[in-house]
Amino acid sequence: MTRTEPAITASDVSMWYETQRGEQVNALDTVSLDVRRGEFLSLIGPSGCGKSTLLYIVGGLRRQSSGQVSLDGQRVTGPMPTKVGFVFQDYTLFPWRTIIANVEVGLGFRGVGRRERREIATEKLELVGLRGFADAYPGELSGGMQQRVAVARALAMDPEILLMDEPFGALDEQTRTVLGEELARILEKTGKTIVFVTHSLSEAVFLSDRVVVMSARPGRVKEILAVDAARPRESGFATAPEFTQTRNRLFELLHEEVRAAALAEMQSGGLDA
Ligand SMILES: Nc1ncnc2c1ncn2[C@@H]1O[C@H](COP(=O)(O)OP(=O)(O)OP(=O)(O)O)[C@@H](O)[C@H]1O
Ligand SMILES: [Mg+2]
Repeated sequence: MTRTEPAITASDVSMWYETQRGEQVNALDTVSLDVRRGEFLSLIGPSGCGKSTLLYIVGGLRRQSSGQVSLDGQRVTGPMPTKVGFVFQDYTLFPWRTIIANVEVGLGFRGVGRRERREIATEKLELVGLRGFADAYPGELSGGMQQRVAVARALAMDPEILLMDEPFGALDEQTRTVLGEELARILEKTGKTIVFVTHSLSEAVFLSDRVVVMSARPGRVKEILAVDAARPRESGFATAPEFTQTRNRLFELLHEEVRAAALAEMQSGGLDA
């Protein structure tokens, strides 16, 4: 392993699913992508273009039909929970466990002792600003707070790579802006490599080093935009000309693809009828 090697390399990754009705669905078509170590990379694209599929493949939760994925030059053949963490859209906390027990859960599986578990979990809860809620239950927390717990739980495992699938998608605009700012701050401290799926163009521009625009299904890499603004990015960045220009460009690119996706859907609907 060399230091210049990308954290994640996807080469010509294609994915076909077979539906319950026995039809083949081409979800991804020869996706090639490098993610640098410490990079924050967002994926945007129309619904159904294969963003989640790509994350699952990178994390070893699903097997691609063809092509290859490597992490630090090592071929992915299955899940690597010590190297890769996931945060999904739904909070996926255990409702019967306290907040701190939820954050500790993966560490328990890894065989980390009780005291150390508690120390790590406390530290991560502090990082996401929820130290005072260690003994509460998930049902007693707001959606945004629960999502911060999910982030703390992923960070507790100290993975090099975090794969986040619309982690703030279920939240209102204000909460997700604030959480995005918090996430940026946490990541600057921890130096993780992140792949982040979002439908929010503002979120993508605010948080990312690069934004990958995917085409309508079958998902391909349509274009990659770099966001060069310095970090830490203050909330004022959201009104800077560079922000607006990049966001507008993303909007144009995505608009073409969403149109293409809608058209394809109408046509296939027409054939069915
Ligand atoms: N288990 C599965 N079996 C069959 N088809 C699937 C399966 N999972 C996903 N697909 C199909 O693959 C395509 C890509 O799905 P995926 O969930 O990766 O898209 P996405 O970009 O994450 O969409 P969204 O933005 O709506 O979350 C879709 O057409 C979907 O119907
Ligand atoms: Mg998805």
